[in-house]
Amino acid sequence: MVLEAEHIAKRFGEVEVLRGVSLRVRRGDLVSIIGPSGCGKSTFLRCLNCLELPDRGSVTAMGVRIERAGGRWTRVDEHIAHRLRAHVGMVFQSFNLFAHLSVLDNILLAPRVVKGEPAHTARTQAMTLLEKVGLADVAQRYPASLSGGQQQRAAIARALAMRPEIMLYDEPTSALDPLVAEEVLEVMRTLDAEGMTQIVVTHDMRFAQLASDTVIYMDGGRIIEAGPPDLLCVNPSDERTRRFLRTVL
Ligand SMILES: Nc1ncnc2c1ncn2[C@@H]1O[C@H](COP(=O)(O)OP(=O)(O)OP(=O)(O)O)[C@@H](O)[C@H]1O
Ligand SMILES: [Mg+2]
Repeated sequence: MVLEAEHIAKRFGEVEVLRGVSLRVRRGDLVSIIGPSGCGKSTFLRCLNCLELPDRGSVTAMGVRIERAGGRWTRVDEHIAHRLRAHVGMVFQSFNLFAHLSVLDNILLAPRVVKGEPAHTARTQAMTLLEKVGLADVAQRYPASLSGGQQQRAAIARALAMRPEIMLYDEPTSALDPLVAEEVLEVMRTLDAEGMTQIVVTHDMRFAQLASDTVIYMDGGRIIEAGPPDLLCVNPSDERTRRFLRTVL
């Protein structure tokens, strides 16, 4: 297991958003998380790299373990969360590139500033990553001059530049039209073939069904069921999953 979450609980004020969510992910797996709006998918994903701090439960990523039993978030928690995040890259629906930096500089920023990598090494690696996501020829351009699909691929390259072992994606193609979305999904398939561990929150049932090793259906802050896509997407055992699939398919 490269990533393990146990009994994650999280509330915002009076609202219990996650009610004990557990997940184990093996190296190289591609896991899709599906479920109705507001069921806690994004919150769970954010808990996995401690962007959001769980109230209770534990997350272990690449051997770094954070355990919470309620109470305030301490300096020690923050320190562990920081170490854990180094192993987990994240990509958002809205790309979140720095508008005032070229594509190349977007990718160089974290390795240079956070890791203190020498300019030459960082640049060579960044160009290799841009090559991989098909953006080498637009390295000097600014995000605003790129298509949504190109921006999202740049965001993936930027996350990969920190050399994470695990990648999280929150609806990476929801802001894109289907043709352009395909370019992004293709990058994810390539990473999967190379053995990257990936977890994606998605509304793209086709991708979930064709590309995932495991599909997870969440509802009401819980995992209702999980299984291989051919089972979960075709013949789910829970009535809530069936109802959800009927509405989206
Ligand atoms: N920072 C926050 N403060 C207060 N409530 C929040 C916060 N973030 C999320 N919530 C609430 O938590 C619940 C779950 O939100 P979350 O974004 O995790 O759902 P989701 O499954 O990702 O939904 P969607 O498919 O619409 O993205 C929602 O009711 C949301 O309003
Ligand atoms: Mg969401």
